[in-house]
Amino acid sequence: MQTSTHSATAIANPNLAFVKYWGNRDNALRIPSNGSLSMNLAGLETKTQVRFDADLPSDSLTLNGHLALDVALARAKTMLDRVRKMAGISTPAEIVSENNFPTGTGIASSASAFAALAVASAAAAGLHLDEAELSRLARTGSGSACRSVPAGFVEWQAGSTHQDSFAFTIASPEYWTLVDCVAIVSTEHKPTGSTEGHALADTSPLQPARLADAPRRLDICRRAIRTRDFETFADIVELDSNMMHGVMMTSHPRLMYWQPVSLAVMEAVQRWRAEGLPVCFTLDAGPNVHVLCEVAYQPQVESRLSEIPGVLNVLSAAPGGPARQI
Ligand code: PMV
Repeated sequence: MQTSTHSATAIANPNLAFVKYWGNRDNALRIPSNGSLSMNLAGLETKTQVRFDADLPSDSLTLNGHLALDVALARAKTMLDRVRKMAGISTPAEIVSENNFPTGTGIASSASAFAALAVASAAAAGLHLDEAELSRLARTGSGSACRSVPAGFVEWQAGSTHQDSFAFTIASPEYWTLVDCVAIVSTEHKPTGSTEGHALADTSPLQPARLADAPRRLDICRRAIRTRDFETFADIVELDSNMMHGVMMTSHPRLMYWQPVSLAVMEAVQRWRAEGLPVCFTLDAGPNVHVLCEVAYQPQVESRLSEIPGVLNVLSAAPGGPARQI
C-alpha cells in the first residue's frame, strides 16, 4: 500500500441453517464434517469498519461500543493476519463492529461478524476477492460465516481442503417468501460457544449416524427449497435440528441448549402444524426457537408465539442479501 491508511466498511446478515453444520474434519481451518444449507436473515445486520493504519500501536476491536480483548480480539487478529499475508502487508488495523440484534443467543452473530470482517478487511487491504474466496476467508473465522457471504438460500459444500470448502447461492432471496420468526426465550450469552461445541461433536456415539445421513437430508432439503414444498421442508428441517441436538446432548461433556420454554415452543409448533398451519421449528446452539413459515402466515405465527408464556420477544426476518461493502 502506498498511503499509510486504508479503510472499508461492510454489512452482513446472520444466517439460519436448515441442515446444520456440527463438527469439523479440520478444526483449525473449520472444514466441516458435513455440508449444510441456510438462509440469510434480512434486517439483522453486522456493520464492520476496518482501517489499516501504520500509526496504530496494534490491532484493536470495538464491538458494540466496547473494546474487546481476549478471545474475540484473537479470532479477529487471526483473520487480519490471513488478509495481511495475502496482501503482503504488516500494517495494524482498527476494527469497529456493531450488531443491530442481540449477541450470543442462538442468532448466529459470529456468522455475520466474520462475513462482514472478511469483506471489509479484504477491501481495506486492497485485495479483490471473488465471492468464493470471500466465503473461504469468512469460514476461517467462524464456519457458518461462509454462508453469510452469498445471497439468499445458500449451500456450503463441505469439501476436504481450504480450496473446496465454500458456500454458494442455490436460490435468490426473492425465490421463496419464507420468514424466520425467532421466539426469543433468553438473551443471556450461551454457556458453551460453537467453537468448543464442534470439537465435542465426535465424542457423541450418534455423530457417525448423523454424518452418514447428511447427504440424504441435504438432497431432500435442497429439492424442497427448489420446489417450494413446505411440507417436505418442515419435516426435514425439524429432523435435522433434532439430530444435531441429539448429538449435542450425547457428547462428552454433554451440551444442553434447550430450555423449558424452548420445548414449549417446539410442542406448540408441532401442534399448530398438525392442525393445518404450515410452520416448523429449528434451534441452533442456543435456546431461542426459529419458527419458519411462508410470509402469508407470519402475522398469525408471530401473534401465537408471543402468547406463549416465557417468550420474551419475536424477531422476524425474511431471506437476506449477500455480505457487501458499503
Ligand atoms: O459457525 P459456528 O461455529 O458458529 O457454528 C454454527 C453452528 C450452528 O449454528 C449450531 C449450526 C449451523 O449450521 O449454523
